[in-house]
Amino acid sequence: MLDHIRDHAVEILKINDLGNYTVPTHGLYPFQWNWDSALSALGQSHFDEARAWTEIETLFAHQWDDGMVPHIIFHKEDDGYYPGPDVWQTGRAVPTSGITQPAVAGFAVRRLVDRAKDRDQAQQRAKALLPLISRWHDWFYANRDPDGEGLVAIIHPWESGRDNSIDWDEVFERVPTEGVGEFQRRDTQHANPDHRPTQEQYQRYIWLVQCFRDLGWDNSLLHDASPFRVVDPGFNGILLRSAMDLADLAGQFGMHELATHERARAAHGLAAMERLWSETHQQYLCLDRVTGSLIDSASVGGLLAVFAPVDPARAKAIAKRIEAIADKVTFLVPSHDPQDARYDGLRYWRGPAWLIVNYMIADGLSAAGHEGVAQRIVDTSLKLIGQSGFAEYYDPKTGEPCGGREFTWTAAMVLEFLQKGRPAA
Ligand code: GLC
Repeated sequence: MLDHIRDHAVEILKINDLGNYTVPTHGLYPFQWNWDSALSALGQSHFDEARAWTEIETLFAHQWDDGMVPHIIFHKEDDGYYPGPDVWQTGRAVPTSGITQPAVAGFAVRRLVDRAKDRDQAQQRAKALLPLISRWHDWFYANRDPDGEGLVAIIHPWESGRDNSIDWDEVFERVPTEGVGEFQRRDTQHANPDHRPTQEQYQRYIWLVQCFRDLGWDNSLLHDASPFRVVDPGFNGILLRSAMDLADLAGQFGMHELATHERARAAHGLAAMERLWSETHQQYLCLDRVTGSLIDSASVGGLLAVFAPVDPARAKAIAKRIEAIADKVTFLVPSHDPQDARYDGLRYWRGPAWLIVNYMIADGLSAAGHEGVAQRIVDTSLKLIGQSGFAEYYDPKTGEPCGGREFTWTAAMVLEFLQKGRPAA
């Protein structure tokens, strides 16, 4: 059974491999996505280390001059996706989107180095990537943390990677739907519309893209211009974990200045995370940077923060919270609190479980000493694959597979889980 699952995972990574980048799945997502690539490289490293390095290098070959690494790289034309390059109009030679995604590359590079069989290759390729990743981190703090709070904001829900989370609902009301014009969505032609964001949400997504485009994609203007400015604990947790990992690697490689820089940044950010803690929910919450208040929405974003080495008391509370959630679902970790009336187990980021999120939460919990609950997450993840295949996401109560199929990062995470030698329950 496990051998079969492993073989199938490798096959999926190969089917979705277009040479020097991997598509998340054919049809629904026909280009290169930022955090998909970083996490998928981990899966590739189990059977082809050189290919794994290429995945991340391709991503950074499209880094903007200001340091941003875009969320989509449109390597080839494909009109099966909306919004394509003609909507973004970012003016790049190889077109890209104009926003970013969770900065998990620093973590991924560290993990590739730690497990590399070809040490020379790993050192050489990682050393070249480190300054590029650090420039991206600099970009975040320069453009998304204008007051030096130690926490960065996202300016579009797509940047979080949790596109239609309940976290954004309230703030999204501030984003107009008028004046966007007609457009033809493509996602609902590839996947069940009931599992996807609503039309009104899409209008707001596009409004923001048009607003940023009208400002010429000048990142020094976009943060203050956006009616949507949210500090997401998961997003910041990923960035801080990457900063720590980058610092450790730089230290190993004798790049001391870079190590000191990233370590100081992580220390500042980890202290600032306290601002996002909710005693009521016993987890982190998003912060609306426009009003300065926490958003009352207990989503997985606030649990994902444990991927960073947060305060041990906070990590412990998150472990307890996941144990409590486990009594309400069959498959961990739902992307929203199942006891919230707004929870929807089938609709994308409003309830379904996602393996990449499981992987990062389990990794953080395990590092914080909460091995039992980490193991539970891994076990239910593998059980899900056995029952429902390699889907994009799953209903946490029934295990129903949702969204795209034969999904790259789901397969990559399965290889990661299996490599740890953990049995499926
Ligand atoms: C969806 C997800 C996002 C992911 C992308 C490609 O937009 O919400 O996190 O990167 O698909 O898989």
